[in-house]
Amino acid sequence: MCGIVGYIGKRQASSILVEGLTKLEYRGYDSAGVAIIHNGCLDVTKCKGRLANLEKRLEINPIEGTMGIGHTRWATHGEPSDVNSHPHTNQKGTISVVHNGIIENYIQLREKLTKKGYKFLSETDTEIIPQLIDYYYKGDLVEAVIKAVSKMEGSYAIGVISTYEPDKLVAVRKDSPMVVGVGDGEYFIASDIPAILNQTRDVYLLDDKEFVVMTTDGISILTEEKEEIQKEIYHVTWNTDAAEKGGYEHFMLKEIHEQPKVIKDTMLSRIIPGKPINLDKISITKEQIKDIEKIFIVACGTAYHAGVIGKYVIEKLARIPVEVDIASEFRYRKPIINEKTLVIVISQSGETADTLAVLRDAKAHKSRVIAVTNVVGSSVSREADDVLYTWAGPEIAVASTKAYVTQLIAMYIIALFFAENKQTLYQEKIEYYKNAMLELPNKAEEVLKNKEQIQKFSSKTYMYKDMFYLGRGLDYAVAMEGSLKLKEISYIHSEAYAAGELKHGPIALIEKGTIVIALATQEDLFEKMVSNIKEVKTRGANVFALALEGNDTIEKTVDSVLYLPKVDPLFAPVISVIPLQLLSYSIAVQKACDVDKPRNLAKSVTVE
Ligand code: M6R
Repeated sequence: MCGIVGYIGKRQASSILVEGLTKLEYRGYDSAGVAIIHNGCLDVTKCKGRLANLEKRLEINPIEGTMGIGHTRWATHGEPSDVNSHPHTNQKGTISVVHNGIIENYIQLREKLTKKGYKFLSETDTEIIPQLIDYYYKGDLVEAVIKAVSKMEGSYAIGVISTYEPDKLVAVRKDSPMVVGVGDGEYFIASDIPAILNQTRDVYLLDDKEFVVMTTDGISILTEEKEEIQKEIYHVTWNTDAAEKGGYEHFMLKEIHEQPKVIKDTMLSRIIPGKPINLDKISITKEQIKDIEKIFIVACGTAYHAGVIGKYVIEKLARIPVEVDIASEFRYRKPIINEKTLVIVISQSGETADTLAVLRDAKAHKSRVIAVTNVVGSSVSREADDVLYTWAGPEIAVASTKAYVTQLIAMYIIALFFAENKQTLYQEKIEYYKNAMLELPNKAEEVLKNKEQIQKFSSKTYMYKDMFYLGRGLDYAVAMEGSLKLKEISYIHSEAYAAGELKHGPIALIEKGTIVIALATQEDLFEKMVSNIKEVKTRGANVFALALEGNDTIEKTVDSVLYLPKVDPLFAPVISVIPLQLLSYSIAVQKACDVDKPRNLAKSVTVE
């Protein structure tokens, strides 16, 4: 989730690259850099921190040249640092590359090249690319890029320049966006349209494995077999603001739609059928896992809701007792923690004050701490014993959506990892769960196609003052998240209840017309949930239900039902939360609320 921009033409590249990067800074901002070719030499300037740091360096030491590539980074492999910043170069300093995405097999590729004498400076997966191109370079840059790419697994959008062919910019993508801008005798590449919108509105939208070769004389788009592809130019009509949001009205909506991709990214290289679960930044051993007597999952807000799911799945799959708590409560209640307890902290930002305090306290009590976070180099990632990164990319909207689903994926991965190590499940069952997880990106995509019903429901309900969310088991955990989302961005009061708890008090609030969102995706609890729905229906509630395809008996009991694609109920939270996010979003828009920046809230809560 970084940003790429590239230029070849007759103007000075440096200012064009930096201007493009400023439009991409919202995607990643832990470091930035440019590489420019001038008089046959490659000049690279890059540094940790915001783009302003790079601008300062370029002011002091300007780089001349009319062709170059630039990058703004959101760290995935390796801490934010000067050396880990892009562009990366080969050892000889003759080939330079910017990259978005993740090279899944970079460790294997690095080992192979190391054996052939290549030395690596950074901790990044990206550095493998210029070295691999170097390895294959036999006088034809395009050929070398094609060969290098054929060895790379994972997702990528890359821009390549080289002193060997100083009049050429080569780019390619797979599963990571990349566009090519067409100007008057000049060309641009960018990971997102806003980066080049001030330069041109005519772009080629690249498809996977299309290789673009740009010189000042022209452009060609080639297949892997070097056959020319004819593509239509797309004329961009959006304004810059809409373009930053990928054409969506708000960042939140964009981020909701990114969920299939981030679910996939978070599983990438970790969940592979037939192979043990691979958690590269987790060094806890089989023996240490067997010794764990209790797990505490601690977090705040949405991350806490992901923790509630974590409790269910770790207990079910790995048979370890789990307690889940809110960080601001946990830190002051003198919990019983010691070297036999494992603490898992979940934090999108990795900087939440209460969560960080819990982490420090746990370590002081000799508990091992696993951090689940979205930000490489964040405080929790630096201080925890082990880290499991959620690869959601930068989340801009204050209301968390895509980070939450990746936290759920992290919980499933940890549960399966423990189950595998403790042998609490047969291997076939683990394989079954892995395969079921790998289907989730497509299932999430299906849910996103079905927005009409949500919009219809929201237009009937946006003027209400109260709503209830009900569920049992995992559905209850998702109900909590749905209810929080509604409160946060639409300012409608809502409560989430475990459906069986209703008759112990809150049912007194149900009257004619009360809006109830009922989640009924858990098949073993389905009949019990239907009974609870009947209890509110008989008191006049207006019930909107979520159920898995095939469970249509629910139609007799509720006012309307939205069916979700069939998944194993264990993983239903990953897709059932999507309609709830969309519902809150749609209601907030109809109420003209400031969706991305709700009142009184901040993205990162670094104070107590
Ligand atoms: O960065 P963190 O995950 O630690 O943040 C925790 C909460 O502050 C956060 O999830 C908050 O509840 C969001 N606004 C939810 O949308």
